[in-house]
Amino acid sequence: MRVLVTGGAGFIGSHTVVSLIEAGHEPVIVDNLVNAKRSVVARIGRITGHEPELVEADVRDLDAMEKVLQSGYDACIHFAALKAVGESVEKPLLYYDNNVGGTFALLEALSGAEVKTFVFSSSATVYGDPDPATLPLLESSPIGAATNPYGWSKIMMEQILRDVQVSDPEWSISLLRYFNPVGAHQSGLLGEDPSGIPNNLMPYVAKVASGELSKVKVFGNDYPTPDGTGVRDFVHVADLADGHVAALEKRAGEQGVFTYNLGTGEGHSVLEVIAAYERQSGKPIPYEIVGRRAGDVASNWASVEKARLELDWQTTRDLDDMCADSWRWQQNSH
Ligand code: UFG
Repeated sequence: MRVLVTGGAGFIGSHTVVSLIEAGHEPVIVDNLVNAKRSVVARIGRITGHEPELVEADVRDLDAMEKVLQSGYDACIHFAALKAVGESVEKPLLYYDNNVGGTFALLEALSGAEVKTFVFSSSATVYGDPDPATLPLLESSPIGAATNPYGWSKIMMEQILRDVQVSDPEWSISLLRYFNPVGAHQSGLLGEDPSGIPNNLMPYVAKVASGELSKVKVFGNDYPTPDGTGVRDFVHVADLADGHVAALEKRAGEQGVFTYNLGTGEGHSVLEVIAAYERQSGKPIPYEIVGRRAGDVASNWASVEKARLELDWQTTRDLDDMCADSWRWQQNSH
């Protein structure tokens, strides 16, 4: 399939482009490069032997999207979005404009070009603050109230996509709800490159292991979890990438909205992540317990049965693999 990949130079997008090429598809990247580098394309070329085309454009630019789509596509995977939770609280209009507004323009252009197979980058954040008694989260679990504009933008975009499919049943829409994507490509050539001090746990731990930051601040050890620290379903980005190819191959052209959790089905605590990273890096990782971070939930992890049964997809990499690959990337990129 010839696939338009918006945000294909970003963290999850670039790994998905690798998986698409390795599965014999032809991805074309559209990226405005606000949070990604052009050099990613050459790195994808080194990994796969095929350098994908990159069109530098913003998905909000309807004319640009219409022009890109003139060359003919079978499907679109839509990653392009802003994703910093804290920044979204400070700049809600920026987030709604990029994420929701960008999806509007893209859908309009796709509809005009009769490209109606769409895979959407959603998030476990749509479940809000789940009752621990109801874990693991099922795709049928209630969608919660988000605690920030980033989360609301994902909830809104899911709803918009469901409405679009009702209005025009020809659409085939897969909503992929990611849990906590971490790790990096095994080659050490692709990974996450947050600018400034990372907000997310594993990129922060990586910088403590490398000595760039002095210690991890553990946000709370009084949660109702086995060791008191937050529990998340960390999933290797390369497994996540394969999940997109599986959704595309199983669902392309099939009319409807298909929702899947993409996680491992297992939760790990903040302290378990720190211990695994110490093991894999061989570096001491000092930490200090500080107060809870506003908006954090105690635990969430996925039921991944639906993706296993319907997409024939399951993860093959564990927490130690995630830390080992993250550490290789950390050493190569700095
Ligand atoms: N944490 C720390 N110290 C840090 C950073 C994080 O203790 O320096 C803890 C958090 O409190 C939480 C866990 O590590 O318990 C994971 O935090 P992350 O920031 O890595 O991830 P979140 O679960 O908060 O957020 C992620 C994505 C969001 C997405 C959300 C959905 O980053 O984009 O999952 O649940 F919305």
